[in-house]
Amino acid sequence: MLGFILINWRNETMKRRDFIKSVATIAALAPIAGHKAIADLTHNSNTTERNNKMKKVIILNASPRTNFNTAKMLKEAQKGAESVGAEVEYFDLVKLNYKGCMSCFACKIKNSKTNGLCAIRDDLRPILEKILQADAVIIGSPVYFSQATGMFRNLMERMLFAPLRYMKSERTNLTRKIPLGLIYTMNCPEKMAKQINYDMILGTDEKACKMIFGYSEVLNSYDTYQFTDYSKYDCDMFDEAHKKEMLEKQFPKDLEKAFDLGKRLTELKLN
Ligand SMILES: Cc1cc2nc3c(=O)[nH]c(=O)nc-3n(C[C@H](O)[C@H](O)[C@H](O)COP(=O)(O)O)c2cc1C
Repeated sequence: MLGFILINWRNETMKRRDFIKSVATIAALAPIAGHKAIADLTHNSNTTERNNKMKKVIILNASPRTNFNTAKMLKEAQKGAESVGAEVEYFDLVKLNYKGCMSCFACKIKNSKTNGLCAIRDDLRPILEKILQADAVIIGSPVYFSQATGMFRNLMERMLFAPLRYMKSERTNLTRKIPLGLIYTMNCPEKMAKQINYDMILGTDEKACKMIFGYSEVLNSYDTYQFTDYSKYDCDMFDEAHKKEMLEKQFPKDLEKAFDLGKRLTELKLN
């Protein structure tokens, strides 16, 4: 047993060592890797030019379900953004293969010039690049055990840590503000969510987004309909009639708010 643990530990250590070695190479190449991002960001930081161009909005679904509550909210946000002429790119994060921050600190190396772009090269990197070039970004997640999902967390670590500066003089290296909208859907009714302080728990990401990207706002959809047919599941904690009423009366209102969020963030002038 001990032998098995030791071999396993050794393999894990090797894997981590290999990973760190590959990241060290990336870090050394970071000035080159980050060059494209610097050029694009600089280009994008001309406000007049950007306002005259078609707005680009990135929408990310951090729910494993690609067509349920969170996705429906995000698709309305997409329609809202498109209603004012935005070009929208929509991604289901569940289809991507990526990890959270690996603590390689390539983004913090002196003169690294990664300029807010995470050095790890996996499926998330092109999305992070698009985020840095976007006019607005909207991310949606269900609430799982009072937090956003793991794939949302992994995205946040990479998206927020790379542009975060450990300097007293400035906390972000982004050269312009990018509005971020966060949409959460949850089973919990609004009143209970307030009592158990979901606003504070989920608000941590909103604050970090605001500090690093310059602007963020949250939209919550409460008391969502979890299944397609409640009668098929063991769940007498929830009253299906009430859930159905929420689905028919409240959820359409939430979808309207999602549409407005997409529209508002696209039109927001921040810089
Ligand atoms: C693993 C898991 C954990 C959950 N934990 C919570 C929770 O802590 N609080 C809550 O309000 N809802 C919780 N829910 C319910 C979902 O947040 C809710 O149904 C959400 O709208 C699902 O989003 P989706 O339809 O996009 O998958 C949980 C659901 C799952 C599958």
